Amino acid sequence: MTKQITYLNESSNFIRGLLYATLRLQELKCIWLLECEDLHHKAYIGQSLGYEKELPLILNRRLSELFNVDQRILMPIGFEEQMSYLHKQFSLPDVCKLLQKSLASWTKKQLDKTEAVADEPSKLLLTSIHEILLSSYAKIGETTLTGIDLQLGQLTNIEFKSASPVVKLLAYPARSDKLTYKDGQDFDEQDSSDLKLVKFIHSIAVNIEICAMEVCAFNILTYKSMPLDFKADMAQQIWDEARHFILLADYLESHMGTVVGQYCYNFDVWNKHQLGDGLEEQLAIEQVIQEGDAVGNNMGLIFQLKQRGIHEKLQAILEYINADESMHTKNGNKWLNYICQRKGLNYMDILKTTSQKINKKLPGKFQLHESIYQFLEFPDEYITYTNQAFQNN
Ligand SMILES: [Fe+2]
Ligand SMILES: [Fe+2]
Repeated sequence: MTKQITYLNESSNFIRGLLYATLRLQELKCIWLLECEDLHHKAYIGQSLGYEKELPLILNRRLSELFNVDQRILMPIGFEEQMSYLHKQFSLPDVCKLLQKSLASWTKKQLDKTEAVADEPSKLLLTSIHEILLSSYAKIGETTLTGIDLQLGQLTNIEFKSASPVVKLLAYPARSDKLTYKDGQDFDEQDSSDLKLVKFIHSIAVNIEICAMEVCAFNILTYKSMPLDFKADMAQQIWDEARHFILLADYLESHMGTVVGQYCYNFDVWNKHQLGDGLEEQLAIEQVIQEGDAVGNNMGLIFQLKQRGIHEKLQAILEYINADESMHTKNGNKWLNYICQRKGLNYMDILKTTSQKINKKLPGKFQLHESIYQFLEFPDEYITYTNQAFQNN
C-alpha cells in the first residue's frame, strides 16, 4: 500500500492546531497549579510545565517556515467545543491529563505520516515533542478517563476563531486545611539557634518557592498577549521553583528531622506581587527587587554555612538554587525593560514606587560586584544608584 502523502497545508494546520493546544495545556496546568492543595503535587505540575516550556515557541518557529502567511495564534473551534464539553463533565486535573495524553497520541500519529525528507524538520520536531509530552504526562499522573479521546480531526479542522477562553482566578492559591496559616514569619529574626535555620529553610520552601511558582502561573494566565518567549521564561521559573521546593522539602526530611507543614505558612510573596499595578510593577516586585535581593542573601547564607562547616549538602543545594534565582532576576529585568521601552516608562521610577509599596529598602542589604549587576541585566542607572546608596551608608 502506498503511504499517504501529507501536504504542506495539512502539516502546517496540524502544527498550528498543536501550537494552540500546547498553549491551552499550559494555561490549564497554571490554573491547576493555583487550585491544587497538595504542595508536592503542585511542584509536579510545575515540573511538567517546565518540560513543556518551549513547545509553543518551537512550534511557532516551524509554522513560520511552512509558507505561513497568517502568524496569528487561532482557536480551533471543534477542539474548544470538545474542551468545554469535558470541563462540564470532569474535574480540571482529569481534563488536563486527558489533553496531555491526547496530544502525545496525536503527535505520534502525525509523526508516522509526516513526509520523511520534504518535511524532515517537522518530523524531528514532532519526535522530540512526543517524548517531552510523554515525560510530562508521567509527572502529572495517568488519566482515569480511558474511554474518552479528544479527536485529532477536530484539531486539524481549519475553521479557527481568534479568541481565547476567559480564565477566572481564585483570589488566593489553594492550601490544604492540614497546613496552618500565620501572618508574617514563623521564626524570630534574632534567634540564632539551629531551630531557626530549620524554620528558615521550611519558610523558603513553603512561603517563597511555592508562592513564586504561583505568581508566575498568575502572570501566564493574566498577561496573555505577552510574547511566547515570556511564557517560556515564566514556565522555566515555575519549573525551577518547583525543583527548589522538592530539594528543600527532601532536605528538611532527610537532614533536619521535620516535614513540610510542620510550621506555619504565609502568603507574603503572593500578597506583595498582588500589590503591583500591571505586569511591570509585578515583575519589579517579585523578580527584580525580591529575587534580586535573594541572590545576595543566599550568597551570605552559603558563606555562613561554609564558615561554620555545617550542612554541606544544603550548601550545594543553595548554590544551584542561587544560580536559578539569578536567572529569574535577569529575566525579570529583561521583561521589565521590554515593557518600559514599549510603554515609555522609566525603570527607576517603577523600582522606587514598588519598593515603597512592599516596604523594602532599595537597594537591599548586600552590595554585589558590578559585573554581577551587569549579568543580572540591571540597567546602568540602577548600578549608579546602588553604588551611590552604598557609598552614602
Ligand atoms: Fe526559588
Ligand atoms: Fe526564583
